[in-house]
Amino acid sequence: MAIIPIIKIGHPTLRKVAQPVSDFDDELNSLAENMIETMRLGEGIGLAAPQVNISKRMFVIDLKLIDENLEAKAYINPKILSTEGSESFEEGCLSIPGIRAEVIRPVKIEVQYQTISGEQTTEELDGLTARVFQHEFDHLEGILFIDKIAPLKKKLLEPKLKELEGVFANQWTG
Ligand code: CO
Repeated sequence: MAIIPIIKIGHPTLRKVAQPVSDFDDELNSLAENMIETMRLGEGIGLAAPQVNISKRMFVIDLKLIDENLEAKAYINPKILSTEGSESFEEGCLSIPGIRAEVIRPVKIEVQYQTISGEQTTEELDGLTARVFQHEFDHLEGILFIDKIAPLKKKLLEPKLKELEGVFANQWTG
C-alpha cells in the first residue's frame, strides 16, 4: 500500500465531474487500498478519488474510528436513488484543511453502487454513513461542502478560503 498526495481547494480536479469506472481490475483494487491508507493517515472518514487527483467515480468510507464493527469500504459508480428528511451536521474535508461548517443534508438515503469486484448493490443508509456518502458523492460532481453552507457563514469564511486557494494554487502550478 502507498500514501497518495491529497489535492487541496484551488486544484481544478476538485471541480470536475468525475468519469464512470469501467474496469474492475487490480489497478482499481490497489487505488482503493491506497485511498483507504491515505484517508486513515489524514484521520478522515471518507475520501473520494478526485481528492487524489483521479477523476473517477469512486470513494472510500471508513467509520472504524466511530464503530469498530464497520469495515472500510469502496463505493464505485455510486448513485443516490432517493432521500428523506433533513438535518444539519458539522462537516470538514481533507481537501479544505482547517475549515469546518454546518451543512444541511437529507438524513436517510437509498443508494446504489458497485463493490470493488463490480457487484451491483442497493442499500438504505442513515446516520453518519449517509452523511459521509453524500459528502463524498458531491466530490464526484465537483461540489465541495463549502458550496452548501449558509451564505452568512460562507461570507465569514471567504478570506480564509481565498487564502487556502492561493496557497494551494501556488503549490500545484509550481
Ligand atoms: Co471532502
